[in-house]
Amino acid sequence: MKSNSYFPLKFEDDKLIFIDQTKLPLKENYISTDDYNRIAEAIERLEIRGAPLIGIAAAYACALAFKNHNHKDDDYFNKVYNRLASTRPTAVNLFHALKEIENTYINLADENVYHVLLSIANRIFSAEENYSEKIAKNGLNIFRKKSNVLTHCNTGALAAAGFGTAFAIIKNAFEHQLINHVFVDETRPLFQGLRLTAFELEKNKIPFTVQTDSSAAVLMQEGKIDIVITGADRIALNGDSANKIGTYNLAVLCNFHNIPFYIAAPSSTIDRTIATGAEIAIEYRSSREVLFVGDHQIAKESYQCFCPAFDVTPAHLITGIITEEGVFPFPYNFLK
Ligand code: MRU
Repeated sequence: MKSNSYFPLKFEDDKLIFIDQTKLPLKENYISTDDYNRIAEAIERLEIRGAPLIGIAAAYACALAFKNHNHKDDDYFNKVYNRLASTRPTAVNLFHALKEIENTYINLADENVYHVLLSIANRIFSAEENYSEKIAKNGLNIFRKKSNVLTHCNTGALAAAGFGTAFAIIKNAFEHQLINHVFVDETRPLFQGLRLTAFELEKNKIPFTVQTDSSAAVLMQEGKIDIVITGADRIALNGDSANKIGTYNLAVLCNFHNIPFYIAAPSSTIDRTIATGAEIAIEYRSSREVLFVGDHQIAKESYQCFCPAFDVTPAHLITGIITEEGVFPFPYNFLK
């Protein structure tokens, strides 16, 4: 597959350069920093977002924290670690990346902490690229005919390495003439579908339509959707999967309309320490994200809002989980 003209982040000249996803698709602004705290802020503000990408960015942030502090200092390491661990709670990729960095740091001799941690960040990045490529290939197996696909949130190059997860499957399937059209949920409240997935589909010349999240049911009722594929932020051992708020709605709708519902995610998104989705920490965000569209206020600030960023789809509603290892049907024994 040909590479994109845009990139979510790259490490160059001892700095992390990342695209500010909050400005897309209207502005393609890149920010360059060597400040780990700036990267932590970028994750909090969703300038950098998407489960695998958050993990990659956090690993580079830990390395950069030691660029001008290139020796072991446990208090300093803990401060950096805790700052990054406190950015967003749901995507487990963040914690897997931090753990890998921590394990390396603990076993390190005193010299050149920066370069050793940088090599771990690079390793995490290339592992994710490799997962994306394999997920794209494995995902071809779910298509029985040329299909219309519906997706939610953003799972492309802006959310991960390579071409992403669910998006990588969509792109590969389109290139294999297995996709007619992609229907994209706008993905309230932050519009990752409308702003980011539409941007990536346009860049990749894949035909698409964006609909409000509440229109998915009608599309299914009218027989316009053959498959739904989304990503995940954390998958429990029984297959319960946390993803962007609204994913659970889609799984219920698919069940009702007898439409296959797939989750695509790398192994870095699987949390082998939790038995079920009940143990997944769900991030709640500011009501400002509901009351404002961008900087434009659309309702009174005094209104109380319910703002979970993610929901958990129960395993039995998921037709299959696509990872770099293959396509696995319920009951997901491969996770154990
Ligand atoms: O809040 P976001 O935009 O970080 O949420 C992202 C998602 O929910 C994605 O679907 C998920 O991280 C998978 S990305 C390959």
